[in-house]
Amino acid sequence: MDRTSWLAERRAAVEREYTLEGSSYDEGYDPSTVVHRDFVSELIDLVPHGDTILDVACGTAPYAGMILDRGRGYVGADQSRGMLDRARAKRPGARFELVGLQELPFDGGFAGVMCTDAMENVPPEDWPRVVEAFRRALGSAGHAYLTVEQIDRAEIEGAFASGTHRGWPIVPGEVIEGDTAGYHFYPDRTQVLGWLTGAGFAIVREEDEPLDGYGYHHLLLRTADA
Ligand SMILES: C[S@@+](CC[C@H](N)C(=O)[O-])C[C@H]1O[C@@H](n2cnc3c(N)ncnc32)[C@H](O)[C@@H]1O
Repeated sequence: MDRTSWLAERRAAVEREYTLEGSSYDEGYDPSTVVHRDFVSELIDLVPHGDTILDVACGTAPYAGMILDRGRGYVGADQSRGMLDRARAKRPGARFELVGLQELPFDGGFAGVMCTDAMENVPPEDWPRVVEAFRRALGSAGHAYLTVEQIDRAEIEGAFASGTHRGWPIVPGEVIEGDTAGYHFYPDRTQVLGWLTGAGFAIVREEDEPLDGYGYHHLLLRTADA
């Protein structure tokens, strides 16, 4: 199978899985750590009162309350209808758009963009256009917060060896969850910084958060004119 069709299948599997999980996703599960909440809070501080934050791959919108309670506007976007149905039920007044990270259409209008716990679903060839779409949503001046998931290097190498053995058009850094479903890509910091600076972002603050068997690299960013 060629890589384009294989990636399209992986993406469809991720969409299906989250749509199935949407209605029960929040049950007994809080995705935010103290570090996530600190970074969201810092992003809110950097966005003027009354301006709007775009939350992409928003899932069930766990941070919408924090943002709205502090007098900023909120728009959520996600590719999975099931996650958005749950988000809309929780925040009936907020605007949500059914759209993927790879197709974000926003051209200015936002002072902040955030993407938590979702960039691992973006393959390497899509990173440049996704981060460029974040910057376009901000216009020339704004701030962004995103997380990059991290796992053990040996796990990544094992997934590449096993995927290659199966004849998949897999590249280093990709991990397919389960047998054939799902999709994660774990870029290293140098790759991420290259894509971010290529889109015109500079780092305001970054922090590594090791958790149990995985972790997050948190990045707070600004555009050149911010
Ligand atoms: C682990 S959840 C995180 C949701 C939310 N940002 C949070 O912090 O709880 C991952 C979300 O990313 C969404 N997602 C995955 N790939 C996506 C893509 N290519 N475009 C848009 N959303 C995507 C999924 O539908 C899901 O809602």
